[in-house]
Amino acid sequence: MPAPSSSKRLQNQVALVTGGSSGIGAGVAKSLAAEGARVFVNYSRSANDAAEVVREIEQAGGQATAVQADVSREEDVLRMFDQIREQAGTLHILVNNSGIQDDAPLLDMTLEQWQKVIGVNLTGQFLCAREAAREFVRRGPQPEISKATGKIICMSSVHELIPWAGHVNYATSKGGVMQLMKTMAQELAPHRIRVNSIGPGAIATPINHSARDTPQEEKNLLTLIPYGRVGEPADIGHVAVWLASDESDYVTGITLFADGGMTLYPGFADNG
Ligand code: BGC
Repeated sequence: MPAPSSSKRLQNQVALVTGGSSGIGAGVAKSLAAEGARVFVNYSRSANDAAEVVREIEQAGGQATAVQADVSREEDVLRMFDQIREQAGTLHILVNNSGIQDDAPLLDMTLEQWQKVIGVNLTGQFLCAREAAREFVRRGPQPEISKATGKIICMSSVHELIPWAGHVNYATSKGGVMQLMKTMAQELAPHRIRVNSIGPGAIATPINHSARDTPQEEKNLLTLIPYGRVGEPADIGHVAVWLASDESDYVTGITLFADGGMTLYPGFADNG
């Protein structure tokens, strides 16, 4: 039985999940919608996948709308925020989730690979966070809806901490997301805007499919996860709901790692 609507933690709130058409973003969009948020499911190219996420949310009794934008392009981001304001009036929650990998050893990495990943993973988060913060400040507090005037959740990674050979563009983007998040949290706290990150470990999504392809690869991956399982998008969705809800109203400027212990240096458990 679904919970009565009054007990939903994100009732009457409007959320945007960038990169919501697949992977962690799709999981987060569904979790936020299940808690009553009206969710804008952003996609860059996968219109069909976004439509499918919207359909699943609606079938479960939630509210969702697909919205196109390449988050690395300022004009796209501005258009997306205009569309959200036109259709929903305002925004309460941004989940800055869009992220890509384009891996290569440093010696072979092209400038194009570097700029593409930094463009989506870091510049995209800056552009969306800036527009969300502008909207939160413009609209002002709505204490009957949420204690905070707005909430920004940045999708980081264990790789904001853990260096990752062969992925220098990706690891650098996530290191950047850490300072982006903390600096925005410091700057926006007086406006009662909370900014936090989630640091997922290995979550079963298309982005790391190649690391889980064969039983041997999966076994190797599990040596990095003390908790003994690969994560699911819903593991991250539940954390996002909490960070977006009033239950975390005194939490700002943190990265909450949801990684089955990947950041615990498991190699040191029987070594060092
Ligand atoms: C990456 C995944 C990887 C995980 C753990 C994530 O940020 O996108 O490909 O499996 O970190 O290394």
